[in-house]
Amino acid sequence: MGKNIHITETVLRDANQSQIATRLKREEFADILETLDQAGYYSLECWGGATFDSCLRYLDEDPWERLRFIKSKVKNTKLQMLLRGQNVLGYSHYSDEFVTEFVKKSIENGMDIIRIFDALNDVRNMETAIKATIEAGGHAQGTICYTTSPIHTFENYVKLGKTIEDMGCHSLCIKDMAGIMSPQMAYDLVKALKAELKIPVYVHTHMTTGLGAMTYLSAVQAGADGIDCAISAFSGGTAQPPTETMVYTLNEMGYDCGIDSKATKKINDFFKPVQEKYLKDGGLNPSVLSTKIDALNYQIPGGMLSNMISQLTAMKSLDRLEEVLSEVPNVRKDLGYPPLVTPMSQIVGAQSVSNVLGGKRYGNVSKEVKAYLKGFYGTAPGPVNEALQKEVLGDEKPFTGRPADTLESELPAAREHLGKLARSEEDILSYVAFPAQAEAYFESREEKEALKVSYTIEEVK
Ligand code: CO
Repeated sequence: MGKNIHITETVLRDANQSQIATRLKREEFADILETLDQAGYYSLECWGGATFDSCLRYLDEDPWERLRFIKSKVKNTKLQMLLRGQNVLGYSHYSDEFVTEFVKKSIENGMDIIRIFDALNDVRNMETAIKATIEAGGHAQGTICYTTSPIHTFENYVKLGKTIEDMGCHSLCIKDMAGIMSPQMAYDLVKALKAELKIPVYVHTHMTTGLGAMTYLSAVQAGADGIDCAISAFSGGTAQPPTETMVYTLNEMGYDCGIDSKATKKINDFFKPVQEKYLKDGGLNPSVLSTKIDALNYQIPGGMLSNMISQLTAMKSLDRLEEVLSEVPNVRKDLGYPPLVTPMSQIVGAQSVSNVLGGKRYGNVSKEVKAYLKGFYGTAPGPVNEALQKEVLGDEKPFTGRPADTLESELPAAREHLGKLARSEEDILSYVAFPAQAEAYFESREEKEALKVSYTIEEVK
């Protein structure tokens, strides 16, 4: 048998997030967890990203409880989560104490691999999470957010990969959130990284532009150690390339994915009716399943494009879309070419709309762009537009430190605010991450239990 290729199944996290806005309920996957565990996957991506928020906001589920439940059924396969570095699961920076405690509790509750990224590829925004993961005995996977620009050269990516390895990460992931990495790029980048690094290299992409499966094949041929796939019922479009197709192809070429095809058939048979249910009730919009070549033409993620379309529609200015789309690369250049991933995709998109509709470029600079130019998101990947930065800063000097160094722990105030409503340290962490959603969840939990107690008393009578 040839080289072993690790397959990570994303149906519970990224595919769930990309296709049905993270609405998968626990009872919709509970009965297949044991089969997922036995299928031979390297890991099961099941937490982080939007899953946490969605559990509290829409599903009336405790995200920590969900994690413990998955762990109780998945005993052999590693569980994996996505973490936005110092942003944890949110859109802004948190204190080191919160990041450390969150990581520690994630691992205590069953997490094995934590994939850590920063939207600017600023390693200072990843270092606390990496350190905490290693200290808690977890597997720290450092991440390169993939994008294209004049400053995102192979040399820079390899340098970044090397830094991530030197920080003690157990593995590296190339994260292509927009699905724009071509097979040739993947081949060259993986080759370059494998030549320099000792740690395993994983590749993550989406099928949005139709490149995904080819990109994975090239990456594996260049020496990648693992790829993220989605079981076919939830694959394709904005989600990952199909697990079964990749395994079939790679096995035939002499690679060993370790996947039991009887198990993947069972898993797919299980998820097919789930997908059909979401298609029927509108939870799955068929448009996310088709190939969107615009992302290649404009080099912007599909999600960002649909956001801008709805923003412009609301402003009755959809006829300005082409102008806005051609403004995006200009704004991105002014900001030193940030990768277009949360939160930068929203920040660049909104400023581009404002620049076009406002009639004057930067006539109105958003508070996020101001904070960015002041240095509060981290270091811009490339040089920013100096005139613009000067205009925003005035006489102020840009902040060049690590943004989290300015932050105090959020935990004491959260503890005090919640009082008895919090039943565990995990509850405190949920509250810091999503205050309104977590508090509403805790209150409804109290009410439900009070109701249960009164029923029991009735029955006794
Ligand atoms: Co993704």
